[in-house]
Amino acid sequence: MNTDSFVFDALEAGQYQTQWQAPSNIALVKYWGKHGEQLPKNPSISFTLSQCVTTTAVNFSPREQGDAAFDFLFDQKKQPEFHPKIQQFLERITPFFPALERHHLSISSHNSFPHSSGIASSASAMAAMALCIVDFEKQFHSDWTEEAFLRKASFLARLGSGSAARSIAGPLTVWGHSKAFPQSNDHFAIAPAVEWHPIFQNYQDTVLIVDKGQKKVSSTLGHGLMQGHPFATQRFEQAHTHIEQLKTALTTGDLERFIDLTEAEALCLHAMMMTSNPRYVLMQPNTLSILQKVEVFRAQTQLPLCFTLDAGANIHLLYPLQYRIPIMDFIQEELVVHCQKGQYIEDQVGNGAQKI
Ligand code: DP6
Repeated sequence: MNTDSFVFDALEAGQYQTQWQAPSNIALVKYWGKHGEQLPKNPSISFTLSQCVTTTAVNFSPREQGDAAFDFLFDQKKQPEFHPKIQQFLERITPFFPALERHHLSISSHNSFPHSSGIASSASAMAAMALCIVDFEKQFHSDWTEEAFLRKASFLARLGSGSAARSIAGPLTVWGHSKAFPQSNDHFAIAPAVEWHPIFQNYQDTVLIVDKGQKKVSSTLGHGLMQGHPFATQRFEQAHTHIEQLKTALTTGDLERFIDLTEAEALCLHAMMMTSNPRYVLMQPNTLSILQKVEVFRAQTQLPLCFTLDAGANIHLLYPLQYRIPIMDFIQEELVVHCQKGQYIEDQVGNGAQKI
């Protein structure tokens, strides 16, 4: 794809203030491996969440020569450890919106979920920041459709963090070219115009916090280890096949197939980490205890509960809203004991970002 159409320079520097809320997302088919400038090695698909969100306000003002590009507050406090990631994001997106060089950005951010809960916040954080920036740009495009706006927001968010491309729209978004979704591409995520089966409306995601700590290997490093990985080719092919099969399960409401594919993806992601060079394990004993209990519970009750994992020890439990009561009872009675300080977060599928 020629990305020239994403370049736009505003005519003059101005004052502007905006605020956006962007959701976190949970991948069903995982993005693991990238190339070039934040381009995925395989397509991924995710549920957009509704409760785990980042809210970000940005105040744009004309920048004098020598002024800093931005200042940043997280929960009203200065947090310099976030600066390198924001700096890198702004550097990557400036070629697509050179007017940023003539503005100072005062950024203030807040997460709805506990900070350091072990829940990745880079997707929602980068998406919220990208939305504020595209909202600023929008003033100069009187002809922009909603679709063009969301497309550019996802394009910029991707440059901050790959999975952030999928944190703009909902309820399901696809990033990376897949035969199953004709409009899909590597540069921005789309919310396919597909009639998903109603069972997936309000699908529940209970996030079990097994470990609140910093991951010992970051996702960015993990993606890099797919370069030269002995199973890389097979893995990328598998993701293509899985996304096609998952599309069928998601449109027909075939929960057995949905569970099979979702859990296979989660374990394959971790298998890639365990077989990279260097190899590493992010699951913990409590992660495995939970996975085993979920398997037994499903076999005994026949309830369609399944798990997925991100690149960490925490577990996302996915299930239809109608089974919430027995499943929450099971979580409280059997699984909370494996969570750090008994912590879990209740979330569900949502419809995407909003302007505040
Ligand atoms: C395991 O989007 O965090 O969550 O592009 O380097 O910022 P960067 O990586 P990131 O990778 C997330 C990987 C994953 C799977 C997924 O969300 O698809």
